[in-house]
Amino acid sequence: MSSITQQVAVVTGAASGLGRAIAHRFAKQGMRVALWDVDLAGAERIAGEIGASAKAFAVDVTDTQSVRAAWAASKAALGTPSILVNSAGILGPSAGIASYPEEQWHRVLDINLNGTFRCCQAAVPDMVASGYGRIVNIASIAGKDGNPNVAAYVASKAAVIALTKSMGKELATSGVLVNAISPSASETAIFGELTDERRAKLLANVPMARMVRPEEVAELAFWLSSPACSFSTGAVFDISGGRATY
Ligand SMILES: NC(=O)c1ccc[n+]([C@@H]2O[C@H](COP(=O)([O-])OP(=O)(O)OC[C@H]3O[C@@H](n4cnc5c(N)ncnc54)[C@H](O)[C@@H]3O)[C@@H](O)[C@H]2O)c1
Repeated sequence: MSSITQQVAVVTGAASGLGRAIAHRFAKQGMRVALWDVDLAGAERIAGEIGASAKAFAVDVTDTQSVRAAWAASKAALGTPSILVNSAGILGPSAGIASYPEEQWHRVLDINLNGTFRCCQAAVPDMVASGYGRIVNIASIAGKDGNPNVAAYVASKAAVIALTKSMGKELATSGVLVNAISPSASETAIFGELTDERRAKLLANVPMARMVRPEEVAELAFWLSSPACSFSTGAVFDISGGRATY
């Protein structure tokens, strides 16, 4: 495979937070980046920050046709992507299990889990055909440990980890490596406005006693997207300031 600087990456959820930081990290390496987001204006703003090597695409990961069309459009505009980072996601409401709204349960699963599945399904045929690919799924430490009152989110992230493990084994000899990152909390738009009390709760289990910076997650995502990551697949990489213990 060509050096990473000549490769094309798709980053979903690239208009904000971790996806934005990952897109910037890739572009810093000279890579071309397709910024996928349901928030087109936001993705265009990030493309403006990055410059000519980035292009924004309006994509709703809950819509199979939208995902397939975006893969074709990204290919046509930038070249065939060899990297896919699935960062699009939502937290959903905070509610106890007895009152958790069922339609929101489906919405969270449809974006976080099914959206990741749809994007992987669009990407894998080209990657397998070329004999090379890197897929990075942004899961969460919540998918390993659980967090109260966000059951749909936790279930979706545990399922993203399971999807990653399944795909890693399935594609192990194809040249396509599939890994997940499980970050602890990062102060991005996903939480909305954070109160001091909420921030303290999020940090309660983090031995390093701070939020992970998006740039730190981006550095790990970059390595997992590179040829330097050559013997890890179906694996979960924690970035949690010491929170993760297994
Ligand atoms: N911030 C954290 O504390 C944290 C911790 C662990 C894991 N994560 C995961 O990291 C990923 C990125 O989160 P973030 O913190 O950057 O959040 P964010 O809210 O800053 O960014 C998420 C992006 O996803 C996009 N998006 C939402 N629904 C979409 C859809 N249907 N189609 C396409 N795009 C859609 C949003 O428009 C937004 O730009 C998520 O999967 C999240 O679960 C975040």
